[in-house]
Amino acid sequence: MIDRGRLERHIAELSAIGGKGTAVTRLGLSREEQRARTLVGDWLAARGARVRRDPAANLWARFDSAGSEGRSPSILLGSHLDSVPEGGRFDGALGVLCAIEAVESLMDLQAPLRRPIEVVAWADEEGARFGVGLFGSAAAFGRLAPGVAERKDRDGVSIGDALRSLGETGDPALARREPKDFAAYLELHIEQGPRLADAGRALGVVSDIVGIYHARVTLRGRADHAGATIMSARADTLAGAAEIVLAVERIARAHPDGVGTVGEIAVRPGAKNVVPGECVFSLDLRAARGHEELVRRVLAEVERIAHARGLQASVDELARVEVTPLDRGITLLLRRAVKDVGVEADLFVSGAGHDAQNAQLSGVPTGMIFVRSSGGSHTPREFASLDDAALGARALAIAVRELAA
Ligand code: GLV
Ligand code: MN
Ligand code: MN
Repeated sequence: MIDRGRLERHIAELSAIGGKGTAVTRLGLSREEQRARTLVGDWLAARGARVRRDPAANLWARFDSAGSEGRSPSILLGSHLDSVPEGGRFDGALGVLCAIEAVESLMDLQAPLRRPIEVVAWADEEGARFGVGLFGSAAAFGRLAPGVAERKDRDGVSIGDALRSLGETGDPALARREPKDFAAYLELHIEQGPRLADAGRALGVVSDIVGIYHARVTLRGRADHAGATIMSARADTLAGAAEIVLAVERIARAHPDGVGTVGEIAVRPGAKNVVPGECVFSLDLRAARGHEELVRRVLAEVERIAHARGLQASVDELARVEVTPLDRGITLLLRRAVKDVGVEADLFVSGAGHDAQNAQLSGVPTGMIFVRSSGGSHTPREFASLDDAALGARALAIAVRELAA
């Protein structure tokens, strides 16, 4: 039985870390994310789990119940505890809390489990601070880009530094685990879009996750006096970036189900009376089909526009995650579990990235349950009701029980 009171308390206690009203700011590899890990780890330890943090700051909690064979592959379930700046209370957090509730409900029932169960809270899924998303799961599945520990935040602190200040060695690659240690990975997550709410359904199941490309583009031109430099003599990087932002919009609109976003931009030196000599901005390009083509078109435009304006463009690729079809068998099992709690689950393509991609792409049979949310996501308006969350946790528990029994 799902304990709604316990789930509600857990949601409230976790939301308070980095919380202000309904907003949450709990960046990856920050003190706040670490406090969240400690809180959640204490709950799991109190239920008898062996709890540890790995060198990428992921939190692992392992339950070897009496009937489970210590060496058999475990059932892994979880999500992430970090948020974007001024994000909401549910993106990531709900997946960890429902995973805990699912496992606790099985323990309350003393359900016989043959396989070990592991709950994971992935570190820095959002990549809001260092630009590298799906960080913890990439480390655990050996999918980190080389040299990632040297990447720095705006204050010049590197990922390695941030890990060391959390008590780790600074080398996230040491977090690697063998995919064959896991029989399955299950992740529950809020939907982050309006489709479930529009359909009047509490839950859905994910069939595929979009391909994602993340990069940081630097345009170099020439800083000049804003009054004394005639228009034809300028190499204005912000004007070039503006043209590129509009090209991203145009190309993504023309691509079937493509999306493109420039969400961060900064100019140097940054004064109203100086022509911007340098401009750095982010690229986020996603599609469920033809993702490579979308990326290729945008990068060609970056090059063309920069060249036409006499600017130098350099593109620093931060991440490229391919389109990820989730495991068909697990997806079927999740649809049955969702049906068992009274919901006819539709299949959804996720436009958001998830740690589930790293698991699936590494060969771990992976599936995801979506919980209806209103108010969008990555904003304080993001909301999932306790009823829907409890239903999702119940479906998760049914799936875990079937996989572990
Ligand atoms: C994570 O929320 C992402 O899709 O960027
Ligand atoms: Mn998320
Ligand atoms: Mn997110």
